Amino acid sequence: MIRASLRRIPWARTAYAHALSTLERIVPLPAPRYIQGTPAIDDGGHGAFYRLTAETLGSAAVSPETKDFVIGVLSRLTPIEELELQQLKMRAGLEKFGAHWRHASLLTLLSAASYFIQPDNYLEIGVRRGYSAAVVAAMCPSSNIYGFDLWVEDYVDVPNPGPDFVRGELVRAGHQGTATLVSGDSRSTVPKFLAGHPDLFFDMITIDGVKSIRGAAFDFAHALPRLKVGGVVAYDDLPVKPLLRRVWNRLVCDDDRFVSWEFLDGNMGVAGAIRVKE
Ligand SMILES: C[S@@+](CC[C@H](N)C(=O)[O-])C[C@H]1O[C@@H](n2cnc3c(N)ncnc32)[C@H](O)[C@@H]1O
Repeated sequence: MIRASLRRIPWARTAYAHALSTLERIVPLPAPRYIQGTPAIDDGGHGAFYRLTAETLGSAAVSPETKDFVIGVLSRLTPIEELELQQLKMRAGLEKFGAHWRHASLLTLLSAASYFIQPDNYLEIGVRRGYSAAVVAAMCPSSNIYGFDLWVEDYVDVPNPGPDFVRGELVRAGHQGTATLVSGDSRSTVPKFLAGHPDLFFDMITIDGVKSIRGAAFDFAHALPRLKVGGVVAYDDLPVKPLLRRVWNRLVCDDDRFVSWEFLDGNMGVAGAIRVKE
């Protein structure tokens, strides 16, 4: 209502956006409450020497093999212009730069992480049409997928049909595990669901839902304590919305539980981190 009225007055619109951005810069962020006795991913008894490093994750995320895999998964999903464009761009990059192409996206990062981790449980906040979840499902068909979304209509001007559609996409990707898709605002659905599943921990987590600084921080604060030691957390859109960097830096990079890797290029980018400590 306020936004609708302000949209009609240009100077008020600018002032409103400025006030919001200032508020986002200074607003205090919630802190994750970590849990004693958090389980670790089975590393086959090799310990720290063989653990997945941030550079290894990044190297796999930019590799041609990973891009080929992602293109293959996307080609199995319901065709839509946006998806076809993504495949076209990836094919063009591979053709032009070959193995030298240093480029990663949320999809290639998740593909690489799924390859190394073979997740039992994957949590995604912000699922939309299920592209990321489909990549995880294709790499690890037996994984159990937990997705939370508000299914905002026509998100980025593309139909956002909801959980039944996403279930269908997961099947197209070859998924055979369980898919639990919860509708509603993640700031309330995620903590409520996790409170009802106190023993549930995740091997991989993607935070890609609400893009306000406080909303994203709440998603991190709720989800991070449920990431297994050795697990990976992924985050999209850092450069697109630089204020979100504050959340990533504060809640992940500045915490010695995590080692992180980032790919940034112009207005694109993705970040991932491995939990190395309880
Ligand atoms: C960037 S898209 C997710 C893309 C998806 N991770 C992928 O890779 O295909 C963001 C999604 O977050 C959802 N979303 C936005 N605000 C939300 C909120 N407060 N709670 C839950 N989901 C939300 C939108 O409906 C949208 O589907």
